[in-house]
Amino acid sequence: MRPPRLYYALPFLPIVCSSITVYHQQPFGVTTTTTASQSGSAAAASYTGAAAYDPTILNPPPVPDPPPPTTFFQQLSSSPVPGLSIPQSGYFYGFSVEFSVVNQVLGLNSTHLQVPFLNLMSNIQARGGSVRVRVGGNTQDSATLVDTLPGNKMMQKEAQDTANPTKTPGTMFTSEVLKMLANISGLVNVNWYLGVPMNDTSNLRLGIAEVGEAILGDRLLGFQIGNEPDQYAGHKHRPEGYSPQDYSNEFGAIDAALRADGKVSAVNGKLFGPSLSGVWQPQDVWDTGFIEDHRQSLGLLSMSIYPNNNCAKVFGGPNAEGGVDPQQIFPSYLDHTAGQKIAAKYLESTALAQQNNLPFLMVETNTASCGGFPGVSNSFGSAMWALDYGLQLAYSNFTTALLHVGGQGVYYNPFTPPPTNQSTFHQWTIGPIYYSVLAVAEAFGTSNKSRIIDLQMNANNIYTPGYAIYDGDVLARLALFNYITDPSGAHEYTATFAIGGGDTGQPNGTPPQVKVKYLVAPSVSSKENITWAGQTFGGAFESDGRLTGTETVQTITCKSDNTCDIKVPAPGFALVFLADIPGDAETFGDVKTFSTTALTKTINTASIDPTSLATSNGQKGANFMQAGTSHGRPNGAARFVPHLAVAGCMALGLISVLWRTM
Ligand SMILES: *[C@@H]1O[C@H](CO)[C@@H](O)[C@H](O)[C@H]1NC(C)=O
Ligand SMILES: *[C@@H]1O[C@H](CO)[C@@H](O)[C@H](O)[C@H]1NC(C)=O
Ligand SMILES: *[C@@H]1O[C@H](CO)[C@@H](O)[C@H](O)[C@H]1NC(C)=O
Ligand SMILES: *[C@@H]1O[C@H](CO)[C@@H](O)[C@H](O)[C@H]1NC(C)=O
Ligand SMILES: *[C@@H]1O[C@H](CO)[C@@H](O)[C@H](O)[C@H]1NC(C)=O
Repeated sequence: MRPPRLYYALPFLPIVCSSITVYHQQPFGVTTTTTASQSGSAAAASYTGAAAYDPTILNPPPVPDPPPPTTFFQQLSSSPVPGLSIPQSGYFYGFSVEFSVVNQVLGLNSTHLQVPFLNLMSNIQARGGSVRVRVGGNTQDSATLVDTLPGNKMMQKEAQDTANPTKTPGTMFTSEVLKMLANISGLVNVNWYLGVPMNDTSNLRLGIAEVGEAILGDRLLGFQIGNEPDQYAGHKHRPEGYSPQDYSNEFGAIDAALRADGKVSAVNGKLFGPSLSGVWQPQDVWDTGFIEDHRQSLGLLSMSIYPNNNCAKVFGGPNAEGGVDPQQIFPSYLDHTAGQKIAAKYLESTALAQQNNLPFLMVETNTASCGGFPGVSNSFGSAMWALDYGLQLAYSNFTTALLHVGGQGVYYNPFTPPPTNQSTFHQWTIGPIYYSVLAVAEAFGTSNKSRIIDLQMNANNIYTPGYAIYDGDVLARLALFNYITDPSGAHEYTATFAIGGGDTGQPNGTPPQVKVKYLVAPSVSSKENITWAGQTFGGAFESDGRLTGTETVQTITCKSDNTCDIKVPAPGFALVFLADIPGDAETFGDVKTFSTTALTKTINTASIDPTSLATSNGQKGANFMQAGTSHGRPNGAARFVPHLAVAGCMALGLISVLWRTM
């Protein structure tokens, strides 16, 4: 079957000016390859495929001795307590997409978008209101905007300079990349961070700022100036001895050049740095007077921290000296100190940011730089780690954290498109840490007024951490972790809580019942069988970016003594909804896909394949279905609110749906 090419006008939109093809992969009912679905060490030992599908399964750490108590009591205060974070948003967690892979992850160009990516963003929009995505990374510093590229491509790697083989080949791109970002923002509520290339400040390339501002407008949140400048000397991009003051001077030079550039109108509050990777300490940069010197231009402060690196293996080959054994390092991700250790180093800086009214951004992070570790970065353990780490950063007054997305050669991706040559028969692979982003979005909700506190629960046992979230002034949610793996069930715990009136002398505030959603898998080592509230994205090559299965929210009836018991499996995470917050939901069955009738009612067209296209209902996000993957709407009846992507549809007029043919 070869469905026709269809065009639909959306007459209710203000300006009809553009055409978008929502790109469908043609599914042929082909299931996963054996390489990806094999598991266990035998398969892993002989595995030679891409890191993104590495089948390594590690051993879960043994139950610690002594094990954490499996029953404990937590008193909670109904009114806000001292020590809460600043107000946080449901879009606290976002993504950092390596510049060189945007043509794989986001789309081929502005008219050829990746449907799974749209769905993945839509899921988060539904829960957290919007999504922040940074396009950048190591490859941003040597990226160059050009007018055109051969074959009408939007990006291409520069040829290796044979005279100077140590020079990193740059990425050349056209304005099509920026148009693609704008067109994505027309469909889902995504806002963007970009970076100004800084490999050569005597010969600046400001094209991305000029064209980015013109094309993205308000969707552009800011420009990163310098990607991990504390690595520049080490990577021989700057002379030895390159200092924080040198970096600050170069920041100033770019700032001045942007201000002098007639094609750039907004510089105030648009730039950010220093995006340190841990070689320099933040104080080294603050001590130069960085904030005062660039106060007008600074829109936020940023860091770029990974807890570990796998660079020895990557650069030195699999048997390189100094390489990290994933099994050895795995336990270091599996307790509460993992996130705390990172966050603790930035508490003075986040306080400084607050004093200066500046948001504090973790612009790039993940389990380990240089691609992560097999069996660690793609395990359920990494989901537990990312969830606790994200909440810990939020508690520590970071305002945003972006999980890095690389290509096929990394273990840690939150989502990975199939290799280009397999895109007709494989779907996407959703990594465990993507589930963490969903859970964090739900933990904060859409009010932008959620404040979080680390409860130091269970006598501060590092294997059973918990957080409370106040939404506005209402105690709204609890986030409870159990890091232990024990299939016998003996280390499942029961947290009993009561809600009191706090200092206000209110009556007992324990509700009659609460709702609970679980993030679970059989083991911290598991790579598949991960479910959030009973739903999953499946295993390798199985997802179109929509959750499958029935969403299961458990209702727990509290006891007559005004306490509630919440069980948390080993391993597992529970998000407990304590109160009904107006505008916030705990079920997301209405992350929308559109029925034929709903679409034809509003669109000037005779027919549409029901599985072809769905658009935003303007409030809860949208699902952009892929043809044939699972026919019909997965979640309840369509409800159409007639403003397509109210959240920022930018003059989007015509949408076409193009099926890829074999
Ligand atoms: C986008 O890519 C598709 C597929 O390669 C191509 O047919 C189309 O012309 C491209 N559009 C633009 C605007 O470059
Ligand atoms: C900076 O990157 C551009 C694009 O890759 C390249 O042409 C230029 O030579 C680089 N400059 C330096 C000093 O490395
Ligand atoms: C976060 O900021 C709030 C408000 O300034 C402050 O009270 C709290 O102590 C900070 N949290 C941490 C962990 O520093
Ligand atoms: C776990 O995942 C595998 C592969 O996706 C699947 O075959 C199996 O049925 C799942 N097991 C459970 C208990 O869900
Ligand atoms: C979407 O892409 C098309 C083709 O590049 C372009 O003409 C149009 O302006 C884009 N739409 C937006 C909202 O940027």
